[in-house]
Parts: sequence; C-alpha cells; structure tokens
Amino acid sequence: LERLDKTEALEIARLRQPTLPERAARLWRPLALLATVFVALILFGSANPLLSLLGFAVTAAVLLSFAEQRVQIAPPAAQQRTPAALSPRSEALLESLPDPAIIIDKRALVLFANQPARSLLPTLKIGNPLSFTLRAPDVLDAVEDVLAGTPIADVEYIERVPVERSFNVRIAALTPISQPTQEAVREAASLMFRDTTPMRRVEHMRVDFVANASHELRTPLASLLGFIETLQGPARNDAVARERFLAIMSEQARRMARLIDDLLSLSRIELNAHVKPTSPVEIVGVVRHIIDALSPMARDRAVELTLEVAGSSEIVVDGDRDELLRVFENLIENAIKYGSSGGRVDVTIDHAGEHAREVTVHVRDYGPGISPEHVPRLTERFYRVDVAASRDKGGTGLGLAIVKHIVNRHHGRFHVESSPGEGAVFSVSMGVAARRIAK
Ligand SMILES: Nc1ncnc2c1ncn2[C@@H]1O[C@H](COP(=O)(O)OP(=O)(O)OP(=O)(O)O)[C@@H](O)[C@H]1O
Ligand SMILES: [Mg+2]
Repeated sequence: LERLDKTEALEIARLRQPTLPERAARLWRPLALLATVFVALILFGSANPLLSLLGFAVTAAVLLSFAEQRVQIAPPAAQQRTPAALSPRSEALLESLPDPAIIIDKRALVLFANQPARSLLPTLKIGNPLSFTLRAPDVLDAVEDVLAGTPIADVEYIERVPVERSFNVRIAALTPISQPTQEAVREAASLMFRDTTPMRRVEHMRVDFVANASHELRTPLASLLGFIETLQGPARNDAVARERFLAIMSEQARRMARLIDDLLSLSRIELNAHVKPTSPVEIVGVVRHIIDALSPMARDRAVELTLEVAGSSEIVVDGDRDELLRVFENLIENAIKYGSSGGRVDVTIDHAGEHAREVTVHVRDYGPGISPEHVPRLTERFYRVDVAASRDKGGTGLGLAIVKHIVNRHHGRFHVESSPGEGAVFSVSMGVAARRIAK
C-alpha cells in the first residue's frame, strides 16, 4: 500500500508545471554561482555594475526558461500511460467477458476495467491505484507478488455489501509475447474474477441437507434401538411394557418411513421441476376431499373446519391430482396442527366468475401466527419455527418445501401472510385451464 501511495504522489507531482519560485528554488546552486561571478567581476574586475546586473538577469532568465523546457520535454504522466493502454480489440474482448476483468500497469494503476468489474467496484477509476477501490489485503498482496515476478496467483475475494458474494481472483502477469522469457518484464497484469457464490450456496445447502436428513433419521433410529435393547433385556418378560414399547416403536418406524417418503417425493418433484403437469384437475373436489380426510383430526383438536367457494363450484386447472392433494393436505394439516388454539380453520376458494384466469385457495387459521423473520424461511427443507413442538406433532419440516416445489412446478404462486397473535393465511394461486371438464 505504501508503495502504491508513493507512486501516486509521484504521478501528481509530474502532472503539474512548476511555478517560478519552484523553478528558482530548484536552480538555486547555478543561480548563486552566477551571482557570485558577477559580484566578483564588479568588485575585482571593476566591471560596469549596471551592465553586470543586466548580464546576470539575462543569464538567469535563460537558465530558468531552460528548466521550464526540461519539464515540458518530458511528456506528462497521463500521456506516458497511454501507450501501455490496451488496443481497441483487446478492450472489446475484455468487455465481452461475463465476469469482472481488470488490467493494471506495473505500478498497479488501473488501465482498464470491463462493465462487470465497474458494476462490482463502482468507485474504480482508470489511472487510480487499484488499492483505492479494492481494499482486500489478500488480493493486493497477490498483485504485488505478481508484479514482482510470480507468474500467476489465485486468491479468494469476498464482497460483503450489499449482499455477500465470493469470487476467485486469478492475477496473471501480462508478459509481452516478444520477450516471453524475460521474467523481469512486468508491463501489466490482469485480474480475472470468477463468481463462486452460487457454487458455495449449493455446497452449503448440500451439507445442510445431509446433516439435517441424517439427524432426522437418527433420532427415531436411536429410540428404536433403545427399545429393542430394553425388550431383549430388562423387559423381556414384561407383557405390559412390551405392548407399550412396540406401539412407540411402530410410531417411530412410521415416522422414519414418512421422512423417506417425503425426501423421495421432493427429489421426484425436483427432477420434473421444469415439466408442467397437464392433466385436468378439479380443484374444489381436491380441497373437499382433503377436508373430509382431515375432519377427524380437526374434531380431535376441537377445530371447526369450514369451506367457502366464491364463484363457480367447478374449477379445472392443468396439474397433477396427487401432488395438488399433497399441497392442500399439508396446508390444512398445518393449520389444524399449529393453529388449533384459534378453534377454527377457514378454507376459501376464490374464482371470480366463469372467465377468471386464476383460482386462489386460502387456508386461514386463528392460532399463534408466525413472526415475520420466520416467514421467508418456512419453505426451506427441515425449517421449523419450533423444532421440538413440530417434532412432537410428528412433523419433519419438509411439508412446506414440498408445497412450494409442487406449486412452482404448476407455475403457480405460493404466499404466506401472518403476524404473531393473529393467525396465518397460506395462499396458493394457479392459472385455470382453458378447457373444462364437461358437467
Ligand atoms: N399455520 C401455521 N401456523 C403457525 N406455524 C406454522 C403454520 N404452518 C406451518 N408453520 C410452521 O412452519 C414449520 C414448517 O412447516 P412444514 O409443514 O414445512 O413442516 P412440519 O409441519 O413441521 O412437518 P411436515 O409438514 O413434514 O409434517 C412448522 O414446523 C411450523 O413451525
Ligand atoms: Mg406440515
């Protein structure tokens, strides 16, 4: 950094023309010598003081103007940089790259930056030291190494604002082809950025997913193994305990089976994510079917389950019936499970008139609701607001992830609205099929 700052100071000094006092100060030695010679001439050579003074003035003026010319003869630094800048073709080539690319000269001053680089580093200026903008010690150290002789360096660069993005930066010396073996020649260097953010995100998701899935499987498995040991040992001859333990074991095994089913259906849906299902499915019938299936559960929890259909009573969408059954099963089951304290769950199907293009199903509960910070994360796999509470209710945290994937595959929209204490509304909107099932 210190080195770069010094270079910059030198640049500024060279760009400016020296003032008259500065020129005189620079030439004080010859001027003093000249003055001494003329004074000696007047004192000892009895020369005419007036003529001597005139002679001194003329010689001094010539000296000063010579100094000025000397500065002018050296081309201004800005022009000096131009020959090192890139040819239009190279610039066009770099502009065509999708990733940020920066070219610097041997003093680490920016010679060129393509559009992606300019949008990544908006304060980047041609002619300025790279360090003015890119305040990443690792990258600057690598740049220094490359300018000092290392042919290539790869470093990580993490941009934290406005959102975290990570890059792999390759810094390479641009040695002239005519002098390929001349290691000392470091006319310029390139910085090529490769965005590694998506890769990192996927890697992160994969690790999380494996950790979550194994954890979810291990918990019931540990309990199963524990009960097996108890049944083989202390409870071997205890008929009552055996019955009780077997019931718990069957419940745990069922939970594992359900988790595996959920995981498999998630991956199946993902596999076909880009293929929109096309069978005609009648939505009101699907929702009614789920309400009938879940009414015993609602009764058990003293929840009143209602259905209201606004508009026509037969609405057909292009879809996959089994998948749509799963969507409404999940949403209505969640509303009963987590919103039971509200005492009622209202399902409404909105489809305004024969010609409406869209149908929306709202599932509303009057339970505790969900705080805003959790809402955007509900559709993440294994995400649960209260892990222990959800697990007690037999949840795996995959329900809403499946819902979102199915809705996406149907080109629909999924929306959650909730504020703590006021219950929650989960809505699914889908386009209505052009053709309809005959009545
Ligand atoms: N209606 C609701 N009211 C309050 N919280 C809810 C509601 N619906 C879902 N949640 C919260 O969202 C979390 C995720 O729900 P999701 O359906 O994905 O998983 P789950 O119900 O725990 O498990 P699964 O659906 O696989 O049985 C739940 O654990 C719960 O904390
Ligand atoms: Mg659920």
